[in-house]
Amino acid sequence: MPVLRNHPLASLTTFGLPSSANFFCPCTSVEQVKEALSLVRSEGLPLTVLGGGSNVLLTGDLDGLVLHNRLEGIEIVEENGKEVWVKVGAGVPWHALVVETLKRGWYGLENLSLIPGSVGASPMQNIGAYGIELEARFHALDAIEVHTGQPRSFSHSECEFGYRESIFKKELKGAYVITHVTFRLSRRPELRLDYGAIREELDRAGVHDPGPQDVSNAVIRIRKSKLPDPSEVGNAGSFFKNPVLDAEQFSALQSAHPDVPHYPAPSGTKVAAGWLIDRAGWKGHHRGTHGIHDRQALVLVHHGGASGADLLALAQDVQQDVASKFGVALEREVNVLPLG
Ligand code: FAD
Ligand code: EPU
Repeated sequence: MPVLRNHPLASLTTFGLPSSANFFCPCTSVEQVKEALSLVRSEGLPLTVLGGGSNVLLTGDLDGLVLHNRLEGIEIVEENGKEVWVKVGAGVPWHALVVETLKRGWYGLENLSLIPGSVGASPMQNIGAYGIELEARFHALDAIEVHTGQPRSFSHSECEFGYRESIFKKELKGAYVITHVTFRLSRRPELRLDYGAIREELDRAGVHDPGPQDVSNAVIRIRKSKLPDPSEVGNAGSFFKNPVLDAEQFSALQSAHPDVPHYPAPSGTKVAAGWLIDRAGWKGHHRGTHGIHDRQALVLVHHGGASGADLLALAQDVQQDVASKFGVALEREVNVLPLG
């Protein structure tokens, strides 16, 4: 297993912020993951797992070992006439998986087209977009426990998925390295067109009898029209979660702002954080090296030359302003490293 010293990380993350790893281990197999974890234990090193780096904000150098997950492979583990169970290496890029499944006629991931990052990170926050969350197609995952090096499988219920949540962001934060994820996909298209913007986009493109590839194409076009391309401007997608308010909080917000976009959620009402930040006047805000995207106020952008601390200070200003104007607390969606 290769171990590199003082390895730069900026180009391995979509924010492109300066940082380096004291020890850097690119791992292409489960054996290499186990070896890296043995080193972590024997040397008492802090561990950071990195996938595509599209949901992290690096605020400084990482002291211990960075395990870069590069496990490849897409294989069928079970199938019948209706469904197929596909086991995928954690290092496979998410969108490459979506493209491959569409090509092979395995359906169910099309609404999640063009989300950056790796397959291994997808269960971490139960990635979601355009009316579907990962958990709808998740079957199980394989992981290695950091403190013991022992393998363990997690079923759907054991992952405790929620909106941008899983057990790996709560009780088991930092406890496991995910090495493979198994998905249950359908051989017959089961389209999810309930997210309004998809139907509008299909109509605009003149598609009246859509298939999964049309849905994927529509989602890609919508995403490109709103979200900045990380190869052009540093960002990590939505910086905050959409807050879920209880009945009392929501009713107070809605009576003051009847046009606030909102959606039912299992434990209350979800409101659009992007709308709150936009209404508070932050959309397109510029601080030279960094700022807020001019087409989606939920996205913080790095133009070059900023530090992680600069981005974090901007995020805190936004949180304070939204709290004082709307009485709503915004929670970060992006993972800040090193943990502090
Ligand atoms: P990283 O950023 O590398 O890591 C994220 C976290 O997971 C870190 O805490 C890391 O330690 C941990 N981690 C990573 N891999 C593993 C592993 N194998 N085992 C254990 N822990 C691990 N997200 C959505 O849900 N929906 C969207 O629509 C969406 N749109 C986006 C658009 C843009 C332009 C960008 C830049 C990001 C967007 N995101 C979206 C966020 C991001 O793409 C996802 O969260 C993605 O799953 C992160 O994957 P990653 O491999 O880049 O993870
Ligand atoms: N809005 C504004 N101004 C803005 C941004 C949004 O008024 O600057 C309004 C929109 O007009 C719309 C509402 O807010 O009425 C919601 O906006 P949008 O449809 O763009 O979605 P979002 O809630 O901001 C969420 C996810 C995205 C995901 C999209 C599509 C979260 C935190 N974000 O964004 O995920 O792609 O829905 O499903 O849930 C990510 O996690 O990184 C991410 C990009």
